Amino acid sequence: MLASVLRMDSIDVAALTGEGATASLAPDRTLRIRGGSPLHGDVHVRGAKNTLPKNMVASLLTADECFLNNVAGVFDVEIVAQMIDALGGTVTKSGSGQLRMQTPDPHILSTHEIEPFADKSRIPILVCGPLLARCGEVLVPDLGGCAIGPRPIDYHIDALRQLGAQVLETSDGWRLTAKRLRGAKIRLEYPSVGATEQVLLASVLADGVTELSNAAIEPEVLDLIAVLQKMGATISVETDRVITISGADHLYGFEHTALPDRLEVASWACAALATDGHITVQGARQLDMMTFLNTFRRIGGDFKILDDRIEFWRRRQLTSVALETDVHPGLMTDWQQPLVVALTQASGVSIVHETVYENRFGYTMALNTMGAQIQLYRECLGSRRCRFGTREHLHSAVIVGATELHGAEIEIPDLRAGFSYVIAALVAGGESTISNMRIIRRGYEAFERKLASLGAHLLDPA
Ligand code: EPZ
Repeated sequence: MLASVLRMDSIDVAALTGEGATASLAPDRTLRIRGGSPLHGDVHVRGAKNTLPKNMVASLLTADECFLNNVAGVFDVEIVAQMIDALGGTVTKSGSGQLRMQTPDPHILSTHEIEPFADKSRIPILVCGPLLARCGEVLVPDLGGCAIGPRPIDYHIDALRQLGAQVLETSDGWRLTAKRLRGAKIRLEYPSVGATEQVLLASVLADGVTELSNAAIEPEVLDLIAVLQKMGATISVETDRVITISGADHLYGFEHTALPDRLEVASWACAALATDGHITVQGARQLDMMTFLNTFRRIGGDFKILDDRIEFWRRRQLTSVALETDVHPGLMTDWQQPLVVALTQASGVSIVHETVYENRFGYTMALNTMGAQIQLYRECLGSRRCRFGTREHLHSAVIVGATELHGAEIEIPDLRAGFSYVIAALVAGGESTISNMRIIRRGYEAFERKLASLGAHLLDPA
């Protein structure tokens, strides 16, 4: 049983994935970097942090055994493994990077049992559909995840209510009950990735047909649909963001190879661009990254795409651009932070309009203390007015470059900002000390080992 191997405070990811990687969230570590050396070499990227946990949740829809390949040792995988374990299932390592999961008879967790999962991740909200279908009841703890805005769950709750769940907010989270969910016509106010996944996981075993409009169509969502189709679900992705799901009476086991992490690929690509290095990302896939690749080229980067990898480097002096984040197929909000660091090295004035999260530029203050010139604005500085335009959020950034960065002591506020701080420290003259590295382990496997293998000058902790 996993519980005997894993503890919530100190998680041995190697035990799961068979890799030499450990992504413990505690105790915290501080990284000291001497900047100024370009990164050169190869890194290997495995399954995406934003698909693996959802594919694991899908295994709760069936009593059969399920296999997931290309599993990265990241914290969110651990959390779901522990949830499955707590629910009475098993998750075991079966060969390098393969998980075997099976939950023949899940039971309802008590308030006491869900407590360890509170404030750790956003994934626990997604178990609602599978557990309502199999137990008729589910308790969901308060959610964790990166602090990049209020991150409400109203779309999730509204959708579950429309599918027939009774929802009660309690002091510890949410309690949902349903005899059997029934198909419904649901329209999301915004194409939320999580709410789309919620509807998929809840409606595949519902009675009748569900039509979800204004759905998210990110590759991570399509990867979950692929898993559900393997399990026996009938789901069609139609034009104009409409997804139709025909409820089934029974779903089966699956074997699936998770799609590679396009967020991690972009992070290493930006590290090559900003440091004037050359990085080959093994496992990278072009199709999920076309918008990023276009942007990378416009700034002054170049790349070579091969079947199983992409090589990234700087082609010329970097130049400023105007960018706008958006839902797929737009520029991902999670690509914004490493790109902003690269833009501090580009000549001219760059503009970045963040339209997905209202509060995702807080990290730029630390970059300014390192010598960057980044100014934030409440106005929409983009080609269109976004839904934050009438509210008071600092969601547009103007970056004046190129600036010389210098080392500093900085604390990581969230996952993607964390990687961008590391890139800034690699570019900066002198030494930087980066604390709260535990956050990086939520989404980047074997991070320091990869960094060192690329020639980053890592110093012993002070
Ligand atoms: C997923 O978050 C990812 N997380 C995020 O990755 C990613 O940035 C985001 O999708 C967008 O691509 C995981 O997959 C675990 P959303 P999710 O629901 O599903 C608002 C990373 O660093 N909203 O698409 O939580 C919300 O506040 C992270 O890996 C509501 O208002 O994102 C946001 O403004 C961070 N009500 C927008 O929708 C709701 O009920 C998009 O959020 C749900 C969302």
